[in-house]
Order: sequence, then structure tokens, then C-alpha cells
Amino acid sequence: MDITGIAARLERLNPRVAATAERLALAVPAVRARLDREYGQLLARVEESVKPYRGEVASFPRLPEHGLGADEALASVEELAGRERARWHDGLASGAVYHGGDDHVAFLNQVYAAASQVNPLHADLWPSGAKFEAEIVAMTAGLLGGDAAAAGDPAGQVVGTVTSGGTESILLAMKTYRDRARARARRRVTRPEVVAPATAHVAFDKAAQYFGIKLVRVPVGPDFRADAAAMARAVTRRTVALVGSAPTFPHGVVDPIEELAAVAADRGIGFHTDACLGGFVLPWARRLGYDVPAFDFSVPGVTSMSADTHKFGYAAKGNSVVLYRGAELRSHQYFTATDWPGGLYFSPTLAGSRPGGLSAACWAAMVATGDDGYLEATRRILATGAAIRDGIAAIPRLRVLGDPLWVVAFGADTLDIYRVLERMAGRGWSLNGLHRPPAVHLCVTLRHTEPGVADRFLADLRAAVAEAGSQPAGPDGMAPVYGLAATLPFRGVVRDLLKRYIDLLYRP
Ligand SMILES: Cc1ncc(COP(=O)(O)O)c(C=O)c1O
Repeated sequence: MDITGIAARLERLNPRVAATAERLALAVPAVRARLDREYGQLLARVEESVKPYRGEVASFPRLPEHGLGADEALASVEELAGRERARWHDGLASGAVYHGGDDHVAFLNQVYAAASQVNPLHADLWPSGAKFEAEIVAMTAGLLGGDAAAAGDPAGQVVGTVTSGGTESILLAMKTYRDRARARARRRVTRPEVVAPATAHVAFDKAAQYFGIKLVRVPVGPDFRADAAAMARAVTRRTVALVGSAPTFPHGVVDPIEELAAVAADRGIGFHTDACLGGFVLPWARRLGYDVPAFDFSVPGVTSMSADTHKFGYAAKGNSVVLYRGAELRSHQYFTATDWPGGLYFSPTLAGSRPGGLSAACWAAMVATGDDGYLEATRRILATGAAIRDGIAAIPRLRVLGDPLWVVAFGADTLDIYRVLERMAGRGWSLNGLHRPPAVHLCVTLRHTEPGVADRFLADLRAAVAEAGSQPAGPDGMAPVYGLAATLPFRGVVRDLLKRYIDLLYRP
């Protein structure tokens, strides 16, 4: 057995022993040198695909001595955007661009241009920024059970803030629960805990790292949904909140939010529904007759939610909403400073100055689309999602994971699914590699509802499966990195590899 095999066996037996073994193995110069050599080669191949412009277009590792002027700078950006457009516009990406229609993109750009100077930090100069954000939050709350919550309890009116994306919405919600627990506790809660299913977005890990929270991950059931009984068992007196997703990023399934939120309510702690992906789909999916379990503020124990306007809300990138049941809970998110020589200071979110143009574009996207527009978009996405799910299920050797609506994950029992990912990358597709278990997913967007896109996806997938079973591995995209990360039990080594990948992105 090679070193990877030994480490894999150790990891299964005892992760702590595996971590010690990793440290010891890496202290052996020959092992270190071999890993460095292998990852160096891997990253060199990846570098070619993420730095395609080197030597082809002008680069500026230093500020040009004489400015190029607006026309030349704009032409450069437009040229690169033009080169990159076909892949996302033709629907070859999973998620990423959720609307992408020519008229819609031109409209967002026009709105941004009209409001590009707006900074919501200065509400006196730009009261329009505050208006847009207040209405974005109120409209989103109205979609996600806000009316039911307010009718039951006026103090429980659903409020929130606009943020820069799903990750910031989640970071802020987790900080809010930590700070509320600190404010409530007579003695300091030294290590607050949050209990989340294994499948909840990695932004919860980021929040835990940033804010000194212990994230307790609980394995999901065989249907890839959260296991409410196991989550209940993981709650301790230090737990400040529970988490569920509607739907999950990896497998697109909706967690049993009612059961999970009941556990949280019973213990008097918070419950966050992460509807970053589903917040602007599920309300209409239910109206279209799809089976959508309760997931929003209509469920009594749900105390906060995240919903991404920059995904299926069809806003430009850089926009999301975090919502709370009651202004008291939201107040723990805010930052205020009263003694700074720069004056009295307050801000609702992580950033100081913020791009009000993005809030204007989000507001405009929402009011221009309207309820009927989202209903029609959802109808098209879910019809395409069903066709793709059924098409994948009909391909021999592939298996759809769970029971998804439009984020369709698939694995294979007798085939290396990362080879399929790699062959799809070779055909131009940018799909998401998943692990634990190894799988690939496609998040269906409006791009995939255009004529011929779903059929092309299925035809390419059938060909990729045939090739993956018969041809040697190739070097396309991130596929080899996913394959390696999934099989390599040395997590420290994988972390190191990911950091080296980020370094590479920042190399001019
Ligand atoms: C369920 C879920 N939560 C959170 C996020 C994070 O969102 P963002 O990438 O906008 O930070 C995503 C992103 O895909 C998601 O699918």
C-alpha cells in the first residue's frame, strides 16, 4: 500500500492519528519533495488554463507611465469580456450567470451607470440608496413569509439588510447569533457553537473561523437532507443557532426546516434558513404545484434567512439579503462607534463604503421583473431541471443524488466521476465538482432554458461518460485538483494546495 492508501485507512480509523501521521510524514524530506514535485506539476497545468492571456494581450504589472486613456482601457476590457462571453452566454456554466439575457444585462448596466456614484454610507447625500435597500429588504421579506410572521407578533416583523452576497449574509447572521448570546448571557459564552448539516454552505465554516464560533457539522441522511434527530443530539448549552438550507448547494435538496426549526425553538436558540439559492425560486415553485416543504418565516422557529438577489433575483453580482425575525435580533448585526476622532460612525454590514449602484440595479431588477416575471422564469427553470434530471438518470452508470428540483447532482458507481467532469470540461462545460461522496452538479439557470442547451448538455454528458470509461485522464481545468482533493486524505496538504492555487490567481 502506498502512503496515500495508508493515510486513507488512518483517516477512517482516527482523524487525529491521521493528522499526526501527516505531520510526521511531511517532516520526511523525501515525502515533502515528492508531494511538492507532484503539486508543482499539477499547478503548472492548471496555471495554463487560468492565465490564458499571458503573452497574448497587454499586461500591466506596473502602473503605465502615461495613461492609456479611456478608449483604450475600455477596449481592453471589452475585448476580454467578448472572449469570455460565449461560454456563460451559451449556457455552459453551472450556476454563475442566472439570467444573462442580452436585454436584461444591458438594462442592469444602464441602471448601474445611472447610480454608480451612490454610496449608502452617506444616506444624507444619497437617500435613494437607503430607499432602494429598504425596499429590497421589504420585498424579499414579503416573499419569504414576512406577512405571516408580522401577523402573529408585531415585534416579530421581518427586517434585514442588503449585503454583498450570500457569504456576507451568512457571516453576518452567524455574528448576530454570537453577539446576541453574549448580550443575553450573564457570564460570557466563551466558545459559542452553531450546529449545521454537513451539506450547509462552506460560508458557515468561514463565519466560524472569522468569529470564533465552533461549527458542529452533522452527517446528513441517505437522501442528503439534514438529519433532525442527529442535529438535536448535537445541541449543547453553548449552541447559539441551528442551520438548514433551502436548498443545499451540493445536492439541491431542501432540508426538513420545520423539524429543525422546532428543535431550535424548543431550546430557545436561533434557526437560520440558508435560502441563498432557493429564496427567489421556491416561492414560485410552490405556486406552480411543485412539492416544496415549508422553509421560510411561516415556520415559527425560523429566526433568520439569507436569500441571494444576485442569483435567481437576477440582480448584478454583489448583492444579497439577510433577514431577521424582529428588529432586536437584527440590532446585534450592526456596528456602531461613538468615540472615534473621525466622528460618530455606524454601518449595518461588514463593509464601510458600499456600491449603491448595485443596490439600484437589484431594486430595478426586482421591480422590472415583478411577481409574474419570476413565476415565468421559475416555470422555465424547473421544467428544464426536470428534463435534465430525468436525462441524467437515464444514462447508464450515472446516478442522480437525492430528489432535486433544479440543482442536479450525479455520481457514478463503476466510473470515476471526476473523469466525467474532466471530459465535460474538455467540451467547454464548467460544472461543479463535489466530494464526500464524489459527484458533479449542474445548477440550472435561465441560460439552460434556451433552445437546445439541455439537449446539448445531455448529449455531451453521454459522450463524456463513454470517453471516461475508455480513455486516459487528461489535464482539463480543475478536474484533476478535485480528483486529488477527494482521494488525498492529508487535509493539510490539500489546504496548502488550495492556497497555492489562490497565490497563482494573483500572479500577474
Ligand atoms: C446555498 C448557498 N448558500 C450560500 C452561498 C454563498 O453565496 P455567495 O457565493 O454569493 O457568497 C451559495 C452559493 O452558491 C449557496 O448555494
